[in-house]
Amino acid sequence: MHPIVIMGVSGCGKTTVGQLVSRILSIPFFDADDFHPEANKQKMASGTPLNDQDRAPWLEDLSDLLAKNKGGMVLACSALKEDYRQILSAGITLNWIILHTEFEVIAERLNIRQDHFFDPSLLQSQFDTLESPDYGLQLDASQDPKILASQVAAACNHMGISDFGLIGLGVMGSNLALNLIDQGIQLSVYNRFSTDEAMVVPNFLKDQSLSQVLGFNQLESFVRSLRTPRKILIMVPAGKAIDSVLEAITPLLQPGDALIDGGNAHYKETSRRAQLMQGKSIAWMGCGVSGGREGARKGPSLMLGGDAGSAPGILKILAQIAAIDKAGAPCISFLGEGGAGHFVKMVHNGMEYAEMQLLAEVFDLLRPSLSYVEIEALFTKWNSGDSQSYLLGITSDILRTNSGNGYELDRIVDVAGSKGTGTWSAAAALELGIPATLLSSAVYARAISTFQDSRRSAEVSKQDLVKWDEETLEQLHSAYSFVRLINHIQGFQLINEACEQFQWTADLSEIARIWTEGCIIKSKLMEACQGWLAETSELVSNPRIRQELSNWEPDVAQCCQWGLQQRTPLSVINGAFNWWLAMNQADSPAKLIQAQRDYFGQHGYFRTDDPQRKVSFKWERTNGH
Ligand code: 6PG
Repeated sequence: MHPIVIMGVSGCGKTTVGQLVSRILSIPFFDADDFHPEANKQKMASGTPLNDQDRAPWLEDLSDLLAKNKGGMVLACSALKEDYRQILSAGITLNWIILHTEFEVIAERLNIRQDHFFDPSLLQSQFDTLESPDYGLQLDASQDPKILASQVAAACNHMGISDFGLIGLGVMGSNLALNLIDQGIQLSVYNRFSTDEAMVVPNFLKDQSLSQVLGFNQLESFVRSLRTPRKILIMVPAGKAIDSVLEAITPLLQPGDALIDGGNAHYKETSRRAQLMQGKSIAWMGCGVSGGREGARKGPSLMLGGDAGSAPGILKILAQIAAIDKAGAPCISFLGEGGAGHFVKMVHNGMEYAEMQLLAEVFDLLRPSLSYVEIEALFTKWNSGDSQSYLLGITSDILRTNSGNGYELDRIVDVAGSKGTGTWSAAAALELGIPATLLSSAVYARAISTFQDSRRSAEVSKQDLVKWDEETLEQLHSAYSFVRLINHIQGFQLINEACEQFQWTADLSEIARIWTEGCIIKSKLMEACQGWLAETSELVSNPRIRQELSNWEPDVAQCCQWGLQQRTPLSVINGAFNWWLAMNQADSPAKLIQAQRDYFGQHGYFRTDDPQRKVSFKWERTNGH
């Protein structure tokens, strides 16, 4: 690497930036001021500008120093005139870095600067002397020194410095970045520069060592700082933001590089982008990231999809930040081409919606007769056994949260928000023809909650309240377990169907495994699913599961009745019960649907005595319709 000379007027920050660059690149740093003969120092301290004659021996010494450190060094030097720069670069190639800034900015800095021999009154003469070169890397010195140093290091080290890049320092992005840094992965981070995001990168870098992470708000330098083939995780909101990053970064990349979209993108969009990038030999990967802020910081569950060729290198890095399962393996897996990772994450979220709605319905059944303390105690008890789950645990925490002035829960407007993944999973279930009724019911339940004005609170009759005792609570617990199991059956069935239709390689037991830690739906049940799915991909055909569901059936029926009796809407609980009844109906009324279709549209149907041949019937209209 050619020696680096960082130049600019006194106070532009060249020493600070130079020292940082020397640390990043592990090359020595020299401050040209330290090489002034004593006479020069005294002259400057007394407020007298140096003339060319004064500078001549100093420049010669510096030139010797640069020649001796041809392999790499950083020199902070004012080098204001072209003649001076010619002397410094005689017979040697230098990396020139020019720090520019306004007179007023520097004057202000020098006024507050202590223990420096430079007299601020000399500043004007420096500006007068300055002959700005039109070569070298021109940088705005008013930027954060750590960002400047990152830019210089990236520009001068053509081999690239960092092993991994991350774009977008929002909540998830910054926590993933900290996790990557903790694992000792040499990282570069980028966040766009805009008025309201100007301080994002400097704030992130404040407590970080540049030997671990470089920071950028300029995309080109960020890309240049990465070793090839580049691996870049993009943590920006799904939709337009992703497309603008893609558009801006593509011309800066080269074949073999890989981009990983870590947001909650729609799997079809991920497929489309992967295809688009395939033509440029750049891999577009979609990675579902679950676990919220805490997961991102301490170990998320990661669902990777996209280009199979790029997957091993990405898995190697991301496995280091993933959650660890009970057997000590990282909760990350490559699930297939195109949008496989985002599809699986989308279904995860659909299942998450159903689990959350189920807890809300159980709470709703209990709250007319039990206090929050009692409900919380019940949930805590359930959570200590086979029903243990992250969502049950946080629900207990929520029910416990009382500031002394009342429960925080009671201050929350009863309208559920959503960002779209639940709706997408319901739509995907419809498109793929899989009766994932619970996640759909949960989406509708959120939608109903938004009709706040049309919801009228009917008085619940005290006489109709369920009497909760040990036995009824045990029945409720069984119903809770029944619905959860069906939610898992449905979710995995949906993924299984997608894998078949889209020819994804995902293994269902492996998906359950990476969901046993790190993610929002981690639970003991998920651990059981991992084992069951290793035996069969259709959970519902497992005799043990069927038996368990049959045993719980009377309790669920009872639970649905309590809902009616108490006028408590139980869409997910009822949905699970209906699904179970329908799934066990040997003689379904679908024959009537077939007959109706054939009656008005001659759509045809198969007869029980000849199920291979489609026939139509001449239905006779026997009434006045
Ligand atoms: C996770 C979560 C996370 C988030 C979703 C759902 O796995 O960490 O699923 O991705 O909670 O964005 O959000 P909504 O409930 O707002 O749709």
